Amino acid sequence: MGDIEITPMVDKKFGAIATGLDLKNLSDEEFGQLHSAFLEHGFLLFPDQHINEDESIEFGRRFGELEFGGAPMANQKKHEDGTFGKIYDLQSQLMRTNVGNEAWHTDSTYKPIASKVAMLSAVVVPEEGGQTELADLRSGYESLDEQTKELISGLSAFHSTNFSQANDLGDFPDTNGEGLYGEVYHGEAYLRPLVKVHPETGKPNLFVGRHAFGIPGLSREESRKLIKSLIDHVVSDDSRVYSHNWTVGDTLLWDNRRALHRARPYDYSKPRYLIGTRVAGDPASELSYFPEDPEAEAGRKALTEELEFLREETKDQMYGATTASF
Ligand SMILES: [Fe+2]
Repeated sequence: MGDIEITPMVDKKFGAIATGLDLKNLSDEEFGQLHSAFLEHGFLLFPDQHINEDESIEFGRRFGELEFGGAPMANQKKHEDGTFGKIYDLQSQLMRTNVGNEAWHTDSTYKPIASKVAMLSAVVVPEEGGQTELADLRSGYESLDEQTKELISGLSAFHSTNFSQANDLGDFPDTNGEGLYGEVYHGEAYLRPLVKVHPETGKPNLFVGRHAFGIPGLSREESRKLIKSLIDHVVSDDSRVYSHNWTVGDTLLWDNRRALHRARPYDYSKPRYLIGTRVAGDPASELSYFPEDPEAEAGRKALTEELEFLREETKDQMYGATTASF
């Protein structure tokens, strides 16, 4: 391969396109270059790579321990023989979860250890819609006024997908932590500071998204308003938002500690299949606490109370305060 070229996104405060490399066959030196570029830019786009599930896992492992690797991020099943099955019903928990991810978030903040890196590779994409969008929490933080920076400096929010599904869609998945979604939907809520000092760059960024709620010390109303205003601020400037129109063969890699992302809607009756790999955060910087730790009790309590409010408030939302049946 020739030399790696890193080209920053035009008119954006973050992101770059990486070319002149083969993700299937990357030397340690090349990986070192990519890793530096990843930390500097917050996300990297690799066009025309066409990596498969195993190659996605192999590349992901270079960043650390995986949460999962080579997994279908899709609206249809892929059979062992490589053929695709039927498209999931919009009422299914899988599609409810996919639609939920059309709101801005960072991955796995609803687990004890939040994610470090996420990677998607496009296999089947709809002709229209279905973009993945990213937003820069670092320049979002830097552009806040001093008063807001001061206000949020000591504040934290709980993170839960049971909260975000209910709040965004009126979807109330079981909180028993069982089954396919046991690690996603459960009764725990994990406390994380609103300002995160990036563990590898030392730079501060906002750390909010759809899973965040219940800032201790603020009223429910104040907390909702503040979290919404921070997310709105981050995405209010085009230079902090990048929208990726997928081409088959693309791989997109982003830093979950610094960038928000969301999926965009598309015609859900059309197939969409991306390969997803997610790298776990480092416990030293991404661990909140474990369910068995005493401080977990406050999160469970806050979530239970919040869900009671949302049961009443979300009856006219997409899923009308219902739970999917499998
Ligand atoms: Fe996500």
